[in-house]
Amino acid sequence: MQDAQPKTIYLKDYQVPDYLVDNTDLHFELEPKATLVKSQLKIRRNPEAGKDLPPLLLDGIDLELLSVAIDGSILSQPTYQVTPQGLSISVEKPEFLLEIHNRINPEDNTSLEGLYLSNDMYCTQCEAEGFRKITFYPDRPDVMSKFTTTIVSPKDHPVLLSNGNQIDSGYCEDGRHFATWEDPFVKPAYLFALVAGDLQHVEDTFTTGSGREVKLQIFTEPKNIGKCDHAMRSLKKAMRWDEEMYGREYDLDIFMVVAVDHFNMGAMENKGLNIFNSACVLASPETATDSAFQRIESIVGHEYFHNWSGNRVTCRDWFQLSLKEGFTVFRDAEFSADMNSRAVKRIEDVSLLRTNQFAEDAGPMAHPVRPDSYMEISNFYTLTVYEKGAEVVRMLHTLLGPEGFRKGSDLYFERHDGCAVTCDDFIVAMEDANQINLTQFRHWYSQAGTPVLDVTDDFDQAKGVYSLKISQSCPSTTDQKDKLPLHIPVKIGLLDQSGNDCVLNSKGNTEEVLEITKSDQVFEFSGFQEKPLPSLLRDFSAPVRVRYPYTEKQLIFLMRHDSDTFNRWDASQRLAFLALSKLQKDYRNGRALQLQPELVEAYRDVLSNTALDPALVAEILRLPSEQSIAEMSDLIDAEAIVVAREFAYKSLAEALFPELWAKYSELNAQKPYDPNAKDIAERSLKNTCLTYLAATEKFEALELVQKQFEAAENMTDSAASLSALINYGDMQKSDSAIQDFYQHWKGDTQVVELWLGLQSSSARNGTLNKIKDLMGHPAFEVRNPNKVRAVIGGFANRNFKQFHKEDGSGFRFVAEQVILLDKLNPQIAARLVVPITRWKKYSKNLSEKMKAALQHVLDAGELSPDVFEVVSKSLK
Ligand code: BES
Ligand code: ZN
Repeated sequence: MQDAQPKTIYLKDYQVPDYLVDNTDLHFELEPKATLVKSQLKIRRNPEAGKDLPPLLLDGIDLELLSVAIDGSILSQPTYQVTPQGLSISVEKPEFLLEIHNRINPEDNTSLEGLYLSNDMYCTQCEAEGFRKITFYPDRPDVMSKFTTTIVSPKDHPVLLSNGNQIDSGYCEDGRHFATWEDPFVKPAYLFALVAGDLQHVEDTFTTGSGREVKLQIFTEPKNIGKCDHAMRSLKKAMRWDEEMYGREYDLDIFMVVAVDHFNMGAMENKGLNIFNSACVLASPETATDSAFQRIESIVGHEYFHNWSGNRVTCRDWFQLSLKEGFTVFRDAEFSADMNSRAVKRIEDVSLLRTNQFAEDAGPMAHPVRPDSYMEISNFYTLTVYEKGAEVVRMLHTLLGPEGFRKGSDLYFERHDGCAVTCDDFIVAMEDANQINLTQFRHWYSQAGTPVLDVTDDFDQAKGVYSLKISQSCPSTTDQKDKLPLHIPVKIGLLDQSGNDCVLNSKGNTEEVLEITKSDQVFEFSGFQEKPLPSLLRDFSAPVRVRYPYTEKQLIFLMRHDSDTFNRWDASQRLAFLALSKLQKDYRNGRALQLQPELVEAYRDVLSNTALDPALVAEILRLPSEQSIAEMSDLIDAEAIVVAREFAYKSLAEALFPELWAKYSELNAQKPYDPNAKDIAERSLKNTCLTYLAATEKFEALELVQKQFEAAENMTDSAASLSALINYGDMQKSDSAIQDFYQHWKGDTQVVELWLGLQSSSARNGTLNKIKDLMGHPAFEVRNPNKVRAVIGGFANRNFKQFHKEDGSGFRFVAEQVILLDKLNPQIAARLVVPITRWKKYSKNLSEKMKAALQHVLDAGELSPDVFEVVSKSLK
């Protein structure tokens, strides 16, 4: 908890470590309330830092120090000194063996950082700065060491795991047992892991391209052993994919994954021993939705890919986080695109970016992909570092082409293997491998804010020349007022009047990447008889906003004809935004609402177009979320957004009722569940139709929903129908469906989390009171982040209507929960507060109420640095 104001750390202050640790020998004696940790560190003065011998500073938090010894002699104070942040030791020689004994309390560790207990299983989470909650250590990623770990435990925890290979195991005289693990690769402390529990595992093997056999194991509590197969299949696909696409082989003889129920994040790439949030690894056809199956495949891939992009080559300091996360998100996105529908994956990712990352970049916590400063690094695992960071890597891929990019990544891995490096090292490798200059491109790493491209065009009939004028600008952000022009790849096509792609250059290409480098640029295309229609930023080739005055007619044309699937969807979004803005305006001016007939016809067209991928049809039909409409608004009028969207949704449902019904019936074929891309696409469209039908609240539609709920044989269909009942069904039927579902699934943690989330996102009035009741339900557990995210996070992030109630009750509720949670788990509390930080963008009443809720958190005092940083920065 906060004593004084937490201090700000700056990238410009980076200095190499004073001391290096060549070997780290750890010895754990596990006890729930008093685990003994003995560490032996082979330490040497860092030659790059100088020749004098400054005190050795070790990080350490919440540790009970028992003894400190150097080369076998016990030290006494003042040779060493304990501070709230760690330990300072006077040093007399450039090389020595340091031995420290300390005690920790895993059972009372509710922060889920360091060593903690989850359902009686010991596990660790060390990224970013959790290792200092285990023992005193230079807990920074540029100190890389060879680790050996011995775990001693009573026999009720038969499985004892750590990084690398097991080199010894046996029994102690007192009846306990032990295992010793050795990791042959140097690594920073944040990649350390330890697991001990009564676990079972599934096992498989993978033969690498060079013929080595790797043992693959997935560990879970015994009751979940039947839910590991999908993760194992995903892991083998990811291993093969990284060999084929990046030439990267796995390097140890064993790769282990452990599922735990209590976890702050999705999963963690600890060397050879990945630890996963159960929700991101366990799945079975009966219990997991299609999106859970896909999420698991991508996260298993993501953590596996870190073995190279993160572990073999790691970050020099935490400002460089995007070096490993942005790159690895790009890698997992490409993996998922190759395994499933590329276009749909792209649409999903861009929706997330535009809705949430753009909002972050325009809000009080805006920061560059490589931040310049932070108070608490946990707050910087953001959409900007991850998703915008991945877009920056994608732009390099676009600019260099697949071969050039591969040359660059090969050089990067080869040059920096075993090292802790910077984002700039990554760029330099790309430059050196391709003989190009990326000086201007580097601004993407240092400049915050979402760039805007203003596009206008002109056609010279006499000369047959079509020209595009593109201007770039970037709004000011908190710490950065003036922005430099960026190097932006803009992929475009031009459509003729029958909707075909025009030839753009002498090579005969119908698509071109325009490289924008100046504030204003004009591009000319010749040989045209008629003015073409531009298809801009195809495949979303850069994380920018594009403004071009498309008419509704032109958008409908692009929806029908654009050869770029992404832009077909994008045209539908632009069209929907235009219609929704008009509805909002009419609502504010007290005019009657009406949906334009052209829009209805465009949607009817899409629904009946059998040539389109059903998943794409579903994405187009769903309408932009309230969140994304809010993000597009200069001033958010929450009530008008809700009214406009509900009106549009219901109007479409009524106008297209027969078509929706027919499509539903066509797709509702009974066949055995399989989460392949085609079936997933069909279920997605089917359930989108079902939700529309339910929104009419017609008797026959609600009957259909009830029928699906009762007959569903997979969780996707079951959850979709339950959600429709919760939102639209009559109260009694809805309540009994909720109860029946719980009775049936209460033994399955993942399904219960889903059940909680569906209830908290109900748009019906009265939901907040139901949520308060739900928090007293046996299924809720305040110490479990997944449950907190499902109930409170679901309300704040996915229940736009009820969260934004005019009386401010939603904001006040979230503020109260943040204050309570901060005492248990600061990381979770700091994430939960985000939805009430963007008060400046809201219209008067909500803005004031949101700000008051935020101030209430600040006034509660005794805040963690995590929550303090977010709240204080947003009140500025
Ligand atoms: N290294 C992170 C996990 C992490 C982040 C641990 C912050 C501790 C603090 C991991 O590789 C990761 O990025 N996980 C993501 C999922 C991924 C698919 C983007 C997560 O946990 O959300
Ligand atoms: Zn990651």
